[in-house]
Amino acid sequence: MFKMKRKFKVLLTRRLHDFALTELRERCEITIHSGKIPMPKQKILEEIKDKDGLICFPYDAIDKEVIDSANKLKTISTYSVGFDHIDVNYAKKKKISIGYTPEVLTNATAELTIGLMMDLLRRITEGDYIIRKGKWTEIFGPFDYVGTEISDKTLGILGMGRIGKIVAKKASCLGMNILYHNRKTIAKSGKAKYVSLNELFKKSDVITVHVPYSKNTHHMINSTLLRKMKKTSFLINTSRGKIVNQKDLLKALQLKKIQGAALDVFEDEPIGKSNELVKLKNVVLVPHIGSSTSETRRTMAEITVKNLILGLSNKKLVYSV
Ligand code: DGY
Repeated sequence: MFKMKRKFKVLLTRRLHDFALTELRERCEITIHSGKIPMPKQKILEEIKDKDGLICFPYDAIDKEVIDSANKLKTISTYSVGFDHIDVNYAKKKKISIGYTPEVLTNATAELTIGLMMDLLRRITEGDYIIRKGKWTEIFGPFDYVGTEISDKTLGILGMGRIGKIVAKKASCLGMNILYHNRKTIAKSGKAKYVSLNELFKKSDVITVHVPYSKNTHHMINSTLLRKMKKTSFLINTSRGKIVNQKDLLKALQLKKIQGAALDVFEDEPIGKSNELVKLKNVVLVPHIGSSTSETRRTMAEITVKNLILGLSNKKLVYSV
C-alpha cells in the first residue's frame, strides 16, 4: 500500500493480529485498548478525541455521543459484517467513512449454520455431554438419543442475502427443500421458493435467521411467530441476538412448543452458565463464533486495516457501509 503524508492517530478498541498491527504501525500512531472488553464507553469518549481513525468491534456502541467527542474522526472501520452498533446516519452526516467486512465471512457463517443444524437435529453435543458425564451406561437401544433426519426436511431461510444464499446452496446438497422470506425479487436462488413470513414459520422444519439487526428486525421473532412453528421444528440464529425475543424463545423451548434451538448470538453477550437457556437439553449454544475460522478472522483483520487506511487517505474503501 501507499505511504501517507503524516502518521494518523488511530484507536483500536481491541487487539488485532500482529501482521495487521505491523501494517497499521507503518502508517499510523496506534492506541490499543487493553483491559476490560468491551472497552468502557467513558474510555472511548476520552481516547477518541484526538483520533483520525477508529477500529471497533460489534459490541462497541459507536453512537452520537462517541461521534460528537471525536473531533477529527475521518474513518470508522469495524471488524464485522454487522454495523448495527454504529450510528451510520450520524457518522455520514459528519462525513465520516465507515468500513466493514462483508463477503469474507459469508462461508464461515454458513458453515457454522449447517454445523449447528446437524448438531441440533442429531443431538451431537448432547451425546458428547452424556459421555463426558459418565452417563452412557447401556449400549445402544432403539429409542436412545434419537434425532431427526435432515434429508428431505424443509429449511426456512429468513433473510436470503449473502449468507442465506450460501446456506441454501449447502442445505440443498444435503437434500433439503428450501423456503425463504424477503427479497422476493431474487426468487432464482436455486430451487428455493419464496413464501410469506407466516408460511415460512408454519411450513419449515428448521428456521435459520440471516436478516441483519435493525429497529425493524428487533424482536421480529417473538411468541406470535414462534406459535406458528411446528412442534417438531427447530430455530437457528447466527445473525444477531436481538432479532429474537429471547424470553419468548425460552418459553417456547421450555414448554416444548418447538423442538429445539441452536444459538450463536444472544440478546446480551456474553451469557453465563446461570442463563436459563443453559438448563435446557434441547438447545445448542455457542459463543458468537460465526466468523471464527483462522482463515476468515485473518482476512477480516486484513480488510479492517485496508478499509481504515484507504479511508484516512480519502480513497475508496474495499467495503464501505
Ligand atoms: C459480524 O461480523 O457481524 C459477526 O457477528 C462477528 O463475527
